[in-house]
Amino acid sequence: MAGSHVAAATTLPTESLPGMVQPGSTDDALIAIFGASGDLSARKLVPALFSLWKDGFLSAKSSIVGVARRPKTDDEYRTEMHAAVSKFGRFGEISAEEWAKFAQKLFYRTVNLDQPDEYVGLAKSFEELEKATGLGERRVFYMATSPDLFVPTAEAIYKAGMVPDRRSRQILRMVFEKPFGHDLESAQHLQRKLGRILREEQIYRIDHYLGKETVQNILLFRFGNSIFEPLFNRNHIDHVQITVAESQGIEQGRGGYYDTSGAMRDVLQNHVLQLLALIAMEPPSFFRGKDIRDEKVKVLDALAPGSLTSIHEWAIRGQYGPATIGGKPAAGYRQEDRVNPNSNTETYAALEARIDNWRWAGVPFYLRTGKRMPARVSEITIQFKSPPLHLFKTVECDGDMCELVDSRPNMLIFRIQPSEAISLQFSTKRPGMQYQIHPARMDFAYEDVFTSSLPEAYERLLLDVTRGDSTLFMRNDELEAAWRFCTPVLNAWANDPKGPELYEAGTWGPAGADAMLARTGRRWYAPKLNSGKK
Ligand code: BG6
Repeated sequence: MAGSHVAAATTLPTESLPGMVQPGSTDDALIAIFGASGDLSARKLVPALFSLWKDGFLSAKSSIVGVARRPKTDDEYRTEMHAAVSKFGRFGEISAEEWAKFAQKLFYRTVNLDQPDEYVGLAKSFEELEKATGLGERRVFYMATSPDLFVPTAEAIYKAGMVPDRRSRQILRMVFEKPFGHDLESAQHLQRKLGRILREEQIYRIDHYLGKETVQNILLFRFGNSIFEPLFNRNHIDHVQITVAESQGIEQGRGGYYDTSGAMRDVLQNHVLQLLALIAMEPPSFFRGKDIRDEKVKVLDALAPGSLTSIHEWAIRGQYGPATIGGKPAAGYRQEDRVNPNSNTETYAALEARIDNWRWAGVPFYLRTGKRMPARVSEITIQFKSPPLHLFKTVECDGDMCELVDSRPNMLIFRIQPSEAISLQFSTKRPGMQYQIHPARMDFAYEDVFTSSLPEAYERLLLDVTRGDSTLFMRNDELEAAWRFCTPVLNAWANDPKGPELYEAGTWGPAGADAMLARTGRRWYAPKLNSGKK
């Protein structure tokens, strides 16, 4: 019945639709984490697998094998992971009883990842484990290694006979963490090398932002409601801002990686551009992985510089200097552990981008990310155009100085983290005898409506790899398009002797980023601050 709110009967099994999975209906798999002694595995992966198991999303037979160089027994690994899951998982302290049940699924194998010969023994050990547990059809290998090991590990896995050929009933999926290349050329090179070993549908390039509940909600909000989507275009939107700000500096032990990466490669090229793709893409014809990714890549392909002047006018970089935050001294970036004391690596990046397509022509997208900002907050702010005629004005005073101002523009704000929310800002009449404007805000806060804790991004993504759903993973063409846009900026920065502009730790970044918006009479939206986790 056209226009009915009653869903039409569907003959599709729910599992074939992205995100339609019921507890208990997931596929059995042997999940191996390569680089299992690293931070990612203890902080994110094993806690996420535990949560999946607890919520009934990890099938009974599935087994998890940590693979790393350090010699360890299964029991030692289980004890370590018990502490990690209690500390970093979303269920807090796990009782010994409950842990004992989950721990039966955990195994550890010692392998020097850069020694191809050792993979033969690993392959044998996987087969034995599969025989003992009744697994055998499906393997997920998670590369939680440093990126220089991606290719050697994949090659060694291939040589040890662990990559099934097309005709085989066996399935192998490999997950790769970012950074996937450090510019366009290196990403293409990496892809060529992996492409000789794995087919595209076996490669899962993870961007954990896509697993966040509120990020997935962008699509539902846009295409599951009919009131906002007609406004999402150049006729109604003045500009869009995307902010991924962190209050932390460089975490212990990360200085070495970060100093060769920087804010652009670490967050903007991937997390921020993925948010942009979701907020700007056309509606797909079907809610299917291929269709969604086809639409996202069109947006990334259409990315263009914010202005045709020098790159330095639309691409701003900064680096935090020392400061006193809350009465305590905070180190500057160059004083951080394992960071070159003369480093020119940016800890802040802001870009003005355009999307050269019919929907968005002429609408600036301001993107920014930084470490050591006043708060940990990720938000997308959509500012609508002002009404064509300003009928109403109000008096606003700053101390003794008062002036007549127009109404503030409408804003739609997606708060991705922390305190996930969607807010709409609009003007109302202040009660009284005059037509005075009062800015009002309607907030939908997740915590007011949903009482259970939100699943962690890695839970969703690990579940999807096991099921073979790549909707929330980056396809190679998306990744290339993102690098194609960012690489000229990175090159221009690398060749600029001036280095990044300093900003004080605990502030919203360098003055140059404010100036970039001020040129068109705009300014960065100040997020409503709540206490974040970091
Ligand atoms: C990671 C970056 O991808 O994302 C980190 O490497 C950053 O530097 C992190 O801190 C931010 O993720 P989240 O989920 O904490 O916003």
